[in-house]
Parts: sequence; structure tokens; C-alpha cells
Amino acid sequence: MKALILSGGHGTRLRPLTYSQQKQLIPVANKPVLFYAVEDVIEAGIHDIGIIVGPNKDQVIEAVKSVDWDADIEFIYQGEPLGLAHAIKVARDYLGDDDFVMYLGDNILREGIVRHLEHFKKGNFDASILLCEVENPQMFGVAELSEDGRTIKRLIEKPKIPPSNLALVGIYFFKPIVHEAVENIRPSWRNELEITDAIQWIIDHGYKVGWTKVEHWWKDTGKPEDILDANRLILDDIRSDIKVETKARIHGRVIIEEGTQIDESTVIKGPAVIGKNCVIRNAYIGPYTSIGDGCVIENTEVEDSVILEGSEIRNAGRILESLIGRGVKILNSDNHPIGRKLVVGDNSQLML
Ligand code: TTP
Repeated sequence: MKALILSGGHGTRLRPLTYSQQKQLIPVANKPVLFYAVEDVIEAGIHDIGIIVGPNKDQVIEAVKSVDWDADIEFIYQGEPLGLAHAIKVARDYLGDDDFVMYLGDNILREGIVRHLEHFKKGNFDASILLCEVENPQMFGVAELSEDGRTIKRLIEKPKIPPSNLALVGIYFFKPIVHEAVENIRPSWRNELEITDAIQWIIDHGYKVGWTKVEHWWKDTGKPEDILDANRLILDDIRSDIKVETKARIHGRVIIEEGTQIDESTVIKGPAVIGKNCVIRNAYIGPYTSIGDGCVIENTEVEDSVILEGSEIRNAGRILESLIGRGVKILNSDNHPIGRKLVVGDNSQLML
């Protein structure tokens, strides 16, 4: 059994952050989203992992190699992001004739994949997918189940009248028959080889596609609000770990990494994570906040937000439900003329 983790794609919905970085490297609770997938796969006992890399391949390779994983990891370059089924084509030689799990590198699954992998193996399915109950199935790929409910009859992309509220999660188990499927499907209207078409091909050719239901939460971190959501969900499960001396007032579960200085007039309410070598002065850090390494937060209130490494925020009032990239400066000067002086990248969003 191998794993194919997808860490390519343009990530247009996460611009401007994705102009300079691959979206799977955006941190949730100070850990790149991609690492959650790698950890899940290793926890399921899979040792051979292929990672699909695309536009910012060097960043992804460097980030993954910075950790000593208990696995053999290979990187597979997908020249252009031509779809999830295209990624399988590109990985054809790597995958050989092994069964594999394909895991979208921007998905986080709270419960991991162990139970789902067991079901795929025990049921001797040709493919098996994960489904999650959602409130708005019109926004997802949705499954129609067979009469006995054991297998999948049809997959429908963003249906106007959904046959169920079971949305397709970005984790799929395949036997090698999928290679024949991806060779036999055509690009969709958006010029991508769709994984749903490949799975439908497998069903239509008489093979058995099973499924399992996600019991806890699942998050696809494709949009800024999804990153904030995932951050809340992960922070809900953290345990306190304060590695520095501080006289700040700290309530609830908080992680503070080495080298960070926090003065006594700061208040922190968890759950929150603060990375290494930050300086926090006269600030309020509220629940569901993750602050990356090397940030400065001064005379500012931050709550329910994700701030990436090396950012500096001073005298900035109250910052809420925000996703702030790397090396960002948010400052407030008292010099005339008073007003908002902005240097903002393309596709940024400011709610003033
Ligand atoms: P998507 O989120 O569907 O696509 P995207 O990354 O292009 O994002 P956007 O729609 O905002 O432009 O992709 C799902 C996952 O699969 C994501 O982790 C990126 C990855 N991917 C690839 O590795 N190769 C591909 O060809 C595509 C389409 C996606």
C-alpha cells in the first residue's frame, strides 16, 4: 500500500497568500496543513509516500524535508495542475501495481484514516471513498448510494437537487484499476481530468466502489474562512504547553514556544498557540488565535485569527477573524496626515 498526497494546484481561492506560497504549507495551529495528511498516512502504517508537487515545488520539498518522517517520501512533479485524476497519471510509474490512498494535501480529517483503510481492505473494494454529512450538499461532490447502501451508484458534482447530504471527502482508496479509468476519461468543461469521472468509470464498468462515513469533523482548507475554521477545530484539542517564563495573565489552554517574550500587561485567553521568538507587549491574544514564529504584537488585540511567521502588528486596535500572511506589517502611526496608509497586494481583502 502506498500513499499519494497532492500538494500541487494553484490555490486561487487563497490569494494573495498563494501568490508567494503553496497553499498546503499555510499553517493551521502553527503546523502546515500538508503535515496533517502526512501524519495520518504514517499513522495508518503506510511507509511509501509520493507527494505531488506543482507550481511552488521547491518550497514544498524543503518544508517536507525539514522533518525527519518515519517514511520513504518521493516527490512527483506535475507540470501543470490538470486535475486530480491527472495527478494519478503523472504518478503512474511511482504507484506501479500497488493499492494506494490518494489524500488531498489541503484536507484535514480529525479521526485519521485507519478505520477507513481497514474497510477498504476488508471489503475487497476496487475503490473506496469517504463521505461526510454536510448541510449544504449543493456546494460539494455528492454520492448517490446503491439500494442496499453498501456501495456507490453515482457521483454528482454540485447537484441542484442533491440525492443525499453525503459529500465526497478528499481522501480516496484505489486498486490499480484506477489507472485504466484515468486513461479512459476526458477533460471536463474546466479542462481538468476529474477524479469523480474516474470513480464513475470504475462503477460503470462493473467494479465495486465502497464508502465509509466520517464520524468527526473534516475540513477542506481551500478558502480563507476554511483555514480559520480548521484552526478553531484543531485548537479545540490542544493541551497547554508553556515553554517560557512570563508574568502575563494566561487563561485556558495555551501553547507558547521557546524564545518568546510576553510582558506582564498582556492577557492571553486560550485556546491559542504562539510560536518561537515572538515579542508580545501590552496585547490581548484571544481564543482561537495562532501566531507564527518571530511575530511582534504590541498594543493590539487579536482574536480568532491566524498570523503567519515574521509579521509585525503594532497599535492596530482589535483584529478579528483574520488570516494574515508572512512578514506582514500592520502599524498605526500618529503622524499627520492621519488616515489609513495601505500597501496591499493583489486580491487582498481589508474590512475596515
Ligand atoms: P483544488 O482545491 O480543487 O484546486 P486548486 O489547488 O487549484 O485551488 P483553487 O480552486 O483555489 O484554484 O485542489 C484540491 C487539492 O489537490 C489541493 O490540495 C491541490 C491539489 N491539486 C493538485 O495537486 N493537482 C491538480 O492538478 C489539482 C487540480 C489540485
